[in-house]
Amino acid sequence: MDQVNGSAVTEFVLVGLAHSLEMQLFLFLFFFLFYVGIILGNLFIVFTVIFDSHLHSPMYILLANLSLIDLGLSSTTVPRMISDLFHDYKIISFHSCMTQMFFIHVMGGVEMVLLISMAYDRYTAICKPLHYLTIMNPKMCIILIVTAWITGFIHAMFQFVFVINLPFCGPNDVGSFYCDFPRVIKLACKDTYSLQFVVTANSGFISMATFFFLILSYIFILVTVRQHSSKDLSKAFFTLSAHIAVVVLFFAPCMFLYVWPFPTQSLDQFFAIVDFVVTPVLNPTIYTLRNRDMKMAMKRLSQQVIGSRDMT
Ligand SMILES: *[C@@H]1O[C@H](CO)[C@@H](O)[C@H](O)[C@H]1NC(C)=O
Repeated sequence: MDQVNGSAVTEFVLVGLAHSLEMQLFLFLFFFLFYVGIILGNLFIVFTVIFDSHLHSPMYILLANLSLIDLGLSSTTVPRMISDLFHDYKIISFHSCMTQMFFIHVMGGVEMVLLISMAYDRYTAICKPLHYLTIMNPKMCIILIVTAWITGFIHAMFQFVFVINLPFCGPNDVGSFYCDFPRVIKLACKDTYSLQFVVTANSGFISMATFFFLILSYIFILVTVRQHSSKDLSKAFFTLSAHIAVVVLFFAPCMFLYVWPFPTQSLDQFFAIVDFVVTPVLNPTIYTLRNRDMKMAMKRLSQQVIGSRDMT
C-alpha cells in the first residue's frame, strides 16, 4: 500500500492489439473461442482423470495438474485482454498490474517444474520400468506437485520484492497488452540495470536451461529405448513427441520474451499470445488426441453419460 503513495504513478497504460473495428471483432472472436476451448479442454482433462480410476497413475495426475496450471496461466491475461479490446484507454491499476505479474510468474514457475516432473516420470517408466511403481508412488507425486508450487512462489517472489519497491513517477506506458517484469521495470525512475539482469537471469536463463535440460532428457530416453528394440522406439517416440511438442511450445516464447536482447513490440506480443492463448489450448489437444488411454477414458465417460441418461 505504501508503495502506491510513495510514487506518482497509480495506474499503467496498456497498448491495444486492434486498431480497427474489424480487427477488434476478429481478435474478440479469436480470443473468446480459444479461451472457451482452454476452459473446456483443460477442465475436461481434469475431470476425466479424477473420475476415471484407470487414469489414476502419476503420468495422468501430473497431466491433470498441468491442465489446471494452463487454465490458471491463461486466466492471468486473456480475460483482461478480451475486455480491453473494446476500451479506448486501456488502463490497469498499479495493484492489478503487480498482481498480474506476480501470478504470471507463479503459474509459469509451477508449469516449468511440472514439465520437468512429467519428463522424470517418463524417464522412470521407460528407462527404469522395474522400479517405476516404487519410485513414482503417490507420495512422490505429491512431493513433485508441492515442489512445483513452492518453486513457482519463490520464483515470482524473488522478482516481485524488487519491483514492488521501485519508484514509479511516470511515464506509465507499459508498451504491451499485459504487465510483465521486463517492461514494467523499464518505467521506474531509477537505474534498473542490475534489476533487469535479475529478471533476465530468473526468467530467461532458467527457462533456457530447463528447455535444454528437458530436450536432452527426452533424447536420452529415446536413445536408451533404441538400444533395446526398434519396436519400442516408435511407441516411445509417439508418447514422447507429444511431451516434446508441449515443451517447445511453452519454452520457445518464454526464452524469446526474457532472453532475446532486442525486444520488438510486435514479436513480443505474438510470442506472449502463443504462451497465454495457443499453448494452453494445444496441451489438452495434444494429450487427448494422441493418447490411447485418454481416448478410451473419453469413450467410457461418454458411455456412462449416455447410460445414465437412459436410466432417467
Ligand atoms: C494434482 O496432484 C495431486 C498430488 O498428487 C493430486 O492429489 C491431485 O488430484 C492432482 N490434481 C488433479 C486435478 O488431478
